[in-house]
Formats: sequence, C-alpha cells, structure tokens
Amino acid sequence: MSLDSEATFIFFGANEVVRNDDSHYPFRQESNFYYLTEFDEPGAALVLSRGESTLFLLDHDPEMETWTGERYGIERAKMVFNVDQTESIKKFYMKLDELLRGAKRVYFRLDGNVSQNMRVMEAIQRGSRHVGKGSHGALPVQDPSALVARMRMVKDDSELALMRKACSITARAHLHLLKTVRAGMTEFEACAEFQHFLYKNGCTDMGYNPIFAGGNNATTLHYVRNNKVLKAGELLLVDAAGEVDWYTADITQTFPVSKRFSPDQRKVYEKVLGVNRAITSMIKPGITYRELHHRSCELITDALLSLGVLTGSLNENIEQKTYRKYYMHGLGHFLGLDVHDAGIYDHRGSDVPLEAGMVMTNEPGLYFRDLKGPFGGIGVRIEDDILITANGSEVLTKELVRDADQIETLRVE
Ligand code: GLY
Ligand code: MN
Ligand code: MN
Repeated sequence: MSLDSEATFIFFGANEVVRNDDSHYPFRQESNFYYLTEFDEPGAALVLSRGESTLFLLDHDPEMETWTGERYGIERAKMVFNVDQTESIKKFYMKLDELLRGAKRVYFRLDGNVSQNMRVMEAIQRGSRHVGKGSHGALPVQDPSALVARMRMVKDDSELALMRKACSITARAHLHLLKTVRAGMTEFEACAEFQHFLYKNGCTDMGYNPIFAGGNNATTLHYVRNNKVLKAGELLLVDAAGEVDWYTADITQTFPVSKRFSPDQRKVYEKVLGVNRAITSMIKPGITYRELHHRSCELITDALLSLGVLTGSLNENIEQKTYRKYYMHGLGHFLGLDVHDAGIYDHRGSDVPLEAGMVMTNEPGLYFRDLKGPFGGIGVRIEDDILITANGSEVLTKELVRDADQIETLRVE
C-alpha cells in the first residue's frame, strides 16, 4: 500500500444489515475497505500507521457463528490477509491512541455512524496533544476517498482478470437472451433466464439492480420493476450484468421482442450504434471523459437532425443542448468494484486524462418518451465496457453481437 507514511489512516468496513432482528441481508463490504484489505466480514476496521497496517476484526464467537457462519478469527486472518497485524475489534479504541501517536496528519471519512465518528474524533483530539512544537497544535483531518479513488482508477492484472471474466460471462448471458426471449414472457422471466446463465457460468453476484424494460418502459432510465409482459413489435432494453469476486461488468443491449426490428426501431438503433462505435474508436490514453462525452453529444445531435426529430443547425442545437431531452445522461463512468466506480474525472478545474489500466463504460442512448410520431415510445441504449490500453483501447464486451442484421439472425420467432 503506497499511502502517505507520515499519516494515520482509519477505515471502517461495512456492518451487517439485519431487519426485524432476524432477517440477514447479503453482506456487502464497503468498497474502499475491500480494495485495501480483501477482507469480507462485517464489523471490521483498518488502521495504517507508520507504514504498518492493523486489521481489527470480530473475535470467534461459537454461538453467533452457528447463526451467521464461521469467522476468520484473529490468528487465521493474520495468515490469510496481507496485513502486518490483526487485533480484536474490541480493542480498537484502546489501540487507536497508540496508532495516532507521531502522525502528522489523519485521514478519516466522517460517514453516517455518529457515535463511531465521535469516538474517533475524540481520539484524534487526544492525539493532537502529542503534536510537537512548531505545529498548530491540532492534527489535520482529511477525507481519504480521493487518494483511494486514484488507486482504484488504474486496475492491476488480478483486478483485470476478474473484470474480463465478468464481462465475458455477462456478454454471453446477453447473447443467451437473444436466443431465448419470446413475446408473452414477463420482464422478470427474461431476467431469470439471464441470472440463471450468469450463475451457471461463474458469476458470484449481480453487479447492480437489473433493468429489463420492454417497449415504452425503456424511456424510464432507472426502470427496475421488471414486471410487465413483453409484447411482439416492441423493443426490450436490458441493462444488467454479473460480477466475479466483487468486480462487475455493466452491459446494455436493446433488441426486438419479435424476430425483426421495425424500420423505425432499426433507424434509431443504428444511429445509437454509430455513436457507440465512433466513441470506442476515440478512446485512448490522454483523452478526457469530458471530450468523449462532448463528442457523443455532437454525434447524438447529428443523429437527431437526420432522424428529423430536431431541426436547425448542428451548432445551434449543441449550444442550446436540445439533445438533452432525448439523451439525458452521461456517456459513461469508471467501472470496477462498483458499477459507478471510484474515480476522479476532474481535479482543481482540470480534466483528468484517461490512462492505461482504467476501465470505463461507453453507453450512448436515445429515449423518445413524450415524442409524437414514428419514434414515440422507443428507448435504445448500447453499453460496452472498455479497457484503456497503452496504445488505445480494448472492448471487454466484444463477444456481444451489435449489428442489427446479426441480432435478427440470432433472434427467435
Ligand atoms: N447500469 C448502470 C449504468 O449503466 O450506469
Ligand atoms: Mn453504465
Ligand atoms: Mn448499465
């Protein structure tokens, strides 16, 4: 871990979510905590101090372990995880004073847990008394999120291996939908086909809440009800993905519920695909997210003019942002442990250029929610996951079929 060695860093992991005293929801570790420790039990903390790491965790408790499963315990955790020391979480506040001694700065994020925040801040105040002469007598406290985000932005080989696997299985699950979805199924049934494929082929969880949006539902960007019947003649927009060992893919495909696109659906689909492909060809080290997003807005505006949805000049429309009615989200985002992954898009007013090892999505779309005329009710998004490489980019989701003719060939009657 290459973090500031004159500082003490304090991180808390996530707690279990238990409802009505007895219903345990699947545990999800806090992502920065997982990134730094790979430790996936609730109720833990990590302190980095004087270049050494201490993981605080729950002790063995045979009675609790009967209910919620075996814990690593202090000794085994030290052997399994890449930390210098392990300690019982019960000793956390006692040890914290010692771990703060000699620090010039403290990194700690004040999150939602008020009593935790107060106890840590009290320890930091006690630590301030030990700050030497010549200082201002108080330890400066900063949020570590930006530092960790910088680390998380560039993926190492082991992270990329998991992302490649998540992207490949998810892409094949989307292909499976092309071969299995039929009119008359519910959006939930299509989702069940998709999930079955993911888990059968090695995914360990869903990356995010899936969107299975038939027809007009696709014009609701975060449609997650997934409970309507799919009708012949409509499009189905699927934004869904699996993850492998905490790293997720993020894919959207849009295809006809019948075997073929209608001519109007095909026109919109091919325009969005054109934008997706043009943006993919621009992705390389040095370019910024803002430049890519801006270019996607220009291309979408050009598409809207040629579809006859907008009139006037390209420049006028770009200036007035008329495209926003039909393309109201960003081009994409960083991807990794979280679907909208930690990352810095701009810093002190300057855009951060893309670097090799970063992974981002490319997801232009057009949504004609309130439009009268032939395109009314159509929603299309095409989303790929792209790794920035030394010389350009690699589409991690290349196993998908995007060409409209090829989609029709794979679709069932
Ligand atoms: N699936 C969430 C997104 O595309 O941003
Ligand atoms: Mn996305
Ligand atoms: Mn998505």
